[in-house]
Amino acid sequence: MVDKVDIVVGLAWGDEAKGKVANQLASRRVGGKRYYDFVARWNGGSNAGHTIYIGEDCYKTHIIPCGVFHGIKSIIGPNCVLHPESFYKELDMISNAGFDASLVKVSPNTHIVTDHHIDEDKRTLSKKLGTTSRGIAPAYSAKAARTGLLAKDVLEYDHIWDGNIYGNMLCEGAQGIWLDINKGIYPYVTSSETLPYSACSIGFPTQVIDRIYGAAKIYDTRSGEDPLFPSSLLNDPLLSLVADAGQEFGVTTGRKRKVNWLDLNRLIDAINVSGSTDVIINKCDILQDVEQYRLFYNDETLNFSSITDMTIFVEERIRTMCKFVSTVTFSYSPLFV
Ligand code: IMO
Ligand code: MG
Repeated sequence: MVDKVDIVVGLAWGDEAKGKVANQLASRRVGGKRYYDFVARWNGGSNAGHTIYIGEDCYKTHIIPCGVFHGIKSIIGPNCVLHPESFYKELDMISNAGFDASLVKVSPNTHIVTDHHIDEDKRTLSKKLGTTSRGIAPAYSAKAARTGLLAKDVLEYDHIWDGNIYGNMLCEGAQGIWLDINKGIYPYVTSSETLPYSACSIGFPTQVIDRIYGAAKIYDTRSGEDPLFPSSLLNDPLLSLVADAGQEFGVTTGRKRKVNWLDLNRLIDAINVSGSTDVIINKCDILQDVEQYRLFYNDETLNFSSITDMTIFVEERIRTMCKFVSTVTFSYSPLFV
């Protein structure tokens, strides 16, 4: 039986530097020993794009949890979907870089994304909704229709997880709260549950959940279609400066992300619905680079004269409005540290 579970969740539309947060947590040691015995993904597939820095080396992962970079068993859960070819390619990348790829295991009940699913996504959804074209919606459709293929019937036996969990586990979320199929603005969502309760699908009860680390950015970004993010945002001169300084391009698709000032009411809602205990707000240095300190709050645009004034305001609002939060951290380190 697992002892304690911590969860990293995205508080926006994905791309909140969850990879950075999860990677930092995974490296934790207590008394000289690794704190986590497992790192697991619970949702999504290769639509995720997590940028991980180990020292100077940069790795971009889509399906494999970051535990493998720290010698920790890494599990792909039963509520994920997996495209075998992309998975094997990522395993090769990891073992060529000198990491132990045999630490990565896939739940027997993980559903398989087929090439046919990817074709269908490209043909029907990628233009309409701006999906990542990774076959996500067709694979989850097949799962719900109970016509899908399972990992245990497709992958080689040695990649299949035996279902054992013990000690401490870190769950690495993919996407973010506003892409959740239930909470987001349907159909401008992904096909899985991004909220932390869904991590229990890996096989533990809610009582073992300890910390919920909510990752956000000090400004909002969106890849893909969304009525909240009209394409006119791409032409806004100040927001373009933020996009360039923050290198806001998709890890999975290479697309330019639409950028807007932080919607603080939405962030507060996301913190509350996720039950985040620790909030990490990334990329504060980017607003310093462009010397613009703005956000939306209660239908107003607020302008601050420094990042300090802005973060004091944000922290005060979060502490007042979000009763489960015990820490708020503003990160100024470059994305990749
Ligand atoms: P990470 O884990 C940003 C978006 C797509 C599209 C919508 C549906 O890197 O934060 P899908 O391919 O899932 O059917 O696309 O969701 N999307 C993401 N945006 N980061 C992600 O993951 C995303 N995964 C999906 O752009 O709008
Ligand atoms: Mg992404």
